[in-house]
Amino acid sequence: MAEKSKILIIGGTGYIGKFIVEASAKSGHPTFALVRESTASDPAKAQLLESFKNSGVTLVHGDLYDHESLVKVIKQVDVVISTVGHGQIVDQVKIIAAIKEAGNVKRFFPSEFGNDVDRVHAVEPAKSAFGAKAQIRRTIEAEGIPYTYVSSNFFAGYFLPNLAQPGATAPPRDKVVILGDGNPKAVFNKEDDIGTYTIRAVDDPRTLNKILYIKPPANTLSFNELVALWEKKIGKTLEKVYVPEEQVLKNIQESPVPINVVLSICHSVFVMGDHTNFVILPSFGLEASEIYPDVKYTSVDEYLNQFV
Ligand SMILES: NC(=O)c1ccc[n+]([C@@H]2O[C@H](COP(=O)([O-])OP(=O)(O)OC[C@H]3O[C@@H](n4cnc5c(N)ncnc54)[C@H](OP(=O)(O)O)[C@@H]3O)[C@@H](O)[C@H]2O)c1
Repeated sequence: MAEKSKILIIGGTGYIGKFIVEASAKSGHPTFALVRESTASDPAKAQLLESFKNSGVTLVHGDLYDHESLVKVIKQVDVVISTVGHGQIVDQVKIIAAIKEAGNVKRFFPSEFGNDVDRVHAVEPAKSAFGAKAQIRRTIEAEGIPYTYVSSNFFAGYFLPNLAQPGATAPPRDKVVILGDGNPKAVFNKEDDIGTYTIRAVDDPRTLNKILYIKPPANTLSFNELVALWEKKIGKTLEKVYVPEEQVLKNIQESPVPINVVLSICHSVFVMGDHTNFVILPSFGLEASEIYPDVKYTSVDEYLNQFV
């Protein structure tokens, strides 16, 4: 069997990054996590960094904005996965420049982990956020860097613990607010599974220069179906308040940051159906649960049990 690629994760101490780091180490890839000096000495991150070390992860100091350190680290690995946050999306051109200079990278995964940004129908401010990721795609392609874009759709941990009810800390038990008519299908994936599927794609020739969609059938459901599933679990029918699109758009315009960001992403997904309103063609993408059928992913049904 071919040797497993050495993987560097930039942003591994972040929300989704830590799941990717863990999945990489668990699957036996030599795993490197780029850690900023300030983060390495941050007591709040000490436990996470300790768990990385215990999993055999090599911590390397560096910064997105320190070209030399980036090139030096990248030269030691085969694959670079970026999971930097929204504030650094545009600045991934720094990673691209370092990859070009290093010249040895077999695959780059830019920070995506959401909608397929080339197939969205979003309004501002989500429109610009998706646009920034699309621009990074174009730069990667123009530079001829081999890539995989992971479209993981929604992180379960962001949307399921409160059934996407703004400000709520638990799923609703009396009344639920539904954007639009609740019929477009959305996709919710557990973060560990996103890590597992992403790492599976690293050395897979099928995912080279393709979009890996994480869209398992059991996690693809409309808001109405999600509510029905929850109602069945708690044995109760909820009052449903449907917010017409016109009102959703007005709410986006009138809300401050970051509520408007979340609302406009929810509009793209729950009203426009941007997780599921297109067909994945082999020319540009593959679906993860189809090409890795042995991965036992957590279904939305199973995930919701913890809140009953
Ligand atoms: N699908 C969904 O539901 C969903 C939800 C949220 C986010 N996302 C997407 O997931 C991706 C990652 O977002 P996230 O929320 O996981 O990010 P995050 O928690 O904000 O983490 C950002 C990471 O980038 C690192 N970083 C920041 N500045 C850096 C620098 N100058 N040099 C090196 N590293 C730096 C941070 O390191 P420190 O620890 O040192 O700060 C941290 O590890 C984004 O593309 C985002 O749009 C998707």
